[in-house]
Amino acid sequence: MTEYRFIVVNTDGEIGFITLNRPEVLNALNRTMVTEIVTAMEEFDRNNNIKAIVLSGSGRAFAAGADINEMADDDPIRLELLNQFHFWDRMGAIKKPVIGAVHGFALGGGFELALCCDLLFAAENANFGFPEISLGVMPGAGGTQRLTKLMGKTKALEWLWLGEPMSAKEALQYGVVNRLVAPEVLMEETTRFARKLAKKAPLSLRLIKESVLKAVDVPLLEGMQFERKNFYLLFASRDQKEGMNAFIEKRQANFEGR
Ligand code: HXC
Repeated sequence: MTEYRFIVVNTDGEIGFITLNRPEVLNALNRTMVTEIVTAMEEFDRNNNIKAIVLSGSGRAFAAGADINEMADDDPIRLELLNQFHFWDRMGAIKKPVIGAVHGFALGGGFELALCCDLLFAAENANFGFPEISLGVMPGAGGTQRLTKLMGKTKALEWLWLGEPMSAKEALQYGVVNRLVAPEVLMEETTRFARKLAKKAPLSLRLIKESVLKAVDVPLLEGMQFERKNFYLLFASRDQKEGMNAFIEKRQANFEGR
């Protein structure tokens, strides 16, 4: 397994865990850390024993944003040449379910990282926000796009313009998070949900994710055609035969992901 400096990576059964681990700066995301997160996600994505990925933060935050010290002296040409957002694009291309377990601050790039997850479980003490406006910048890793697609234009503008934190309760109300749980059971509840997903037919999980992500971007008819092709494709899998035979034979299906 790859050695990491700013994250901790481990597995428990079929679940892969990635924990941001710079608690002394509230898991501020430096560029190496972002590269490490993507590398770990891609390793889990290629590992047939892993069915779902859980992303969380150590200490008192999920992540308080991109590392401001690292960014302070940047200039546009350096940013262009660094091409750091390429790593964020790779995060969005992970095929397996990625569930974020968020407690404490999820700000700026930390919120954008949370928005890269497919589902979010939030502790009641979580707070989300885009404080970039107070730094004289704006989100750059998908924040304006993903938040708008989740909550609509007017609400997104309000949060992005004011830069104020959104409570976990508000995040639930606006459909930003899936579940709100007590902080002490955040990992337990998230892992329990991940294990539920791990029991499902892996190819179906994968193609459902691909189809739902497509729905966010394309007109209905194009999305329906994409869905249809994926539906047909699943009839080439052993799991389709197994799933349907198991139903007919009144037994539990044993999915192999093939
Ligand atoms: C670097 C950070 C940091 C950050 C916190 N720290 N956030 N360092 N970059 N984003 C450091 C602090 O400097 C401090 O270090 C330590 O973490 C603990 O933070 P405190 O401020 O002492 O804690 P607290 O008083 O509880 O305040 C928490 C906080 C505050 C409200 C979250 O830290 C804060 O406002 N952080 C910045 C949040 C932010 O603006 N995020 C957006 C960044 S821009 P020392 O050494 O003093 O102990 C961004 C753009 C994304 O994300 C672009 C695409 C990738």
